[in-house]
Amino acid sequence: MEFIEQLKQKASESKKRIVLPEGLEERTLRAANTILAEGFADVILIGNPEKISELAVSYSLDSISKATVVDPDNHDKMDAYADMMVEIRKKKGLTKEEALKLIKNPLYLSVMMIKAGDADGEVAGADNATGDVLRPAFQYVKTAPGISVVSGAFIMILKDKEFGEDGMMVFADCAVHPNPTAEELAEIAVATGRTTKAIAGIEPKIAMLSFSTKGSAKHEMVDKVATATKLAQEMAPDLKIEGELQSDAAIIPEIGQKKAPGSDIAGQANVLVFPTLETGNIAYKLVQRMAHAEAIGPVLQGMAAPINDLSRGCSVSDIVNLVAITANQAAGNM
Ligand code: ACO
Repeated sequence: MEFIEQLKQKASESKKRIVLPEGLEERTLRAANTILAEGFADVILIGNPEKISELAVSYSLDSISKATVVDPDNHDKMDAYADMMVEIRKKKGLTKEEALKLIKNPLYLSVMMIKAGDADGEVAGADNATGDVLRPAFQYVKTAPGISVVSGAFIMILKDKEFGEDGMMVFADCAVHPNPTAEELAEIAVATGRTTKAIAGIEPKIAMLSFSTKGSAKHEMVDKVATATKLAQEMAPDLKIEGELQSDAAIIPEIGQKKAPGSDIAGQANVLVFPTLETGNIAYKLVQRMAHAEAIGPVLQGMAAPINDLSRGCSVSDIVNLVAITANQAAGNM
C-alpha cells in the first residue's frame, strides 16, 4: 500500500529503536523479522534470548538475529530502572521492592527503556489488553506538555474512494478514553486534526458526531457534543470543525447540505470524532469488517513519547504498519 510504503521510506532515514515487549509472541516475532529485513527501524525484543532464538528457528525467521534482545529477568539496568520508577511514583508511595517486581513485567520494562532514552518508541498489545499496555505508559511516560487526555485514532483506508480524501478517513477516539467530558472531547478533536495533517498529509474536515444534526434532537448527550464543537473551534481556529452532525450528514454530500445547509464540512468530512469510546470502537470495527477497510492504528495521540497499542486480533502486517507509524512519530515526522 502506497501510504505505508511512504511511511517506511521516511522511517528508514532515521532508523528509530522500537521496543516490542511481546517478544515471544508469534505475530510479533514475524513482524519483527519483516521490519528487520526491510530495515526501516531497529527492533528491541523483550523476552528470554534462548526462547526467542528457538522460536526464530522454528518459524524460519532469518532476520531476527539483527534484533537487540533484552531478557526481562536478567539485564544490567534493572536496578537503575527501578530507582527511576520509585522517583517518578514516590508521591504514589511506590517502594523499591515493588518497583523491582514491576520492572520484570515487559510492559513496564519497555516504558522505562523509553523514559531512560534506551528506546525511542513502543508497540504492544498483540497479547495484552489495551488497559495493561496503556497503564504503564500513563504512569511513567505521561502525557505531552499541555495535553490532559490521551486518545487513539485509526486511519481508515476504504475501498470506496468516494468517502473522505480519496477513501482515507481518520476516526477517533476508538481506543482509550471511555466517556470524555465536553472539554476532553474538544481536545480529542483537535489532537485528531493534528494527527490527520501530520500522518495522512490531508487537510482535516472534522465532524463531531452525534445522533442529532444542528439541534435536531434535544438531549444532554447532544449538548455535550455541541459544547465540545464550540470549545474545539475556539482551541484551534485553524482547523475546520463542525458539529453536532449525524454520521450520514457528515459523509453524504446531499444529506449534509439538507441537514446543515451552507456547511463546507457536512457531507465532506474526512475526520470523524465519536462522542464516546463505545461508539468509536464499535464503528471502526464494523467499518473494518463490513466494508473490508484497512484500519491502521490505533495511533495514540497526546502521549509524551510514541507508544502504540494493537488490537489482540491484529495481523502481522498490522504490527509492521504500526511500527512504521511509531518510528515516524519518534523521528518527529508526525
Ligand atoms: N489520558 C491520560 N492519562 C490517563 C488517561 C487518559 N485517557 N486515562 C487514565 N490516565 C492516567 C490517570 O490519570 C492515572 O494517572 P496516575 O496514576 O499518575 O494518577 C493513570 O492513567 C491510571 O489511571 P486509572 O484511572 O487508574 O486507570 P485505569 O487503569 O482505570 O484506566 C485505561 C485507564 C486503562 C486507559 C482505561 O481508561 C481503559 O481501560 N480504557 C479502555 C481501553 C480499551 O479497552 N479500549 C478498547 C480496546 S482498543 C482496540 O480495540 C484497538
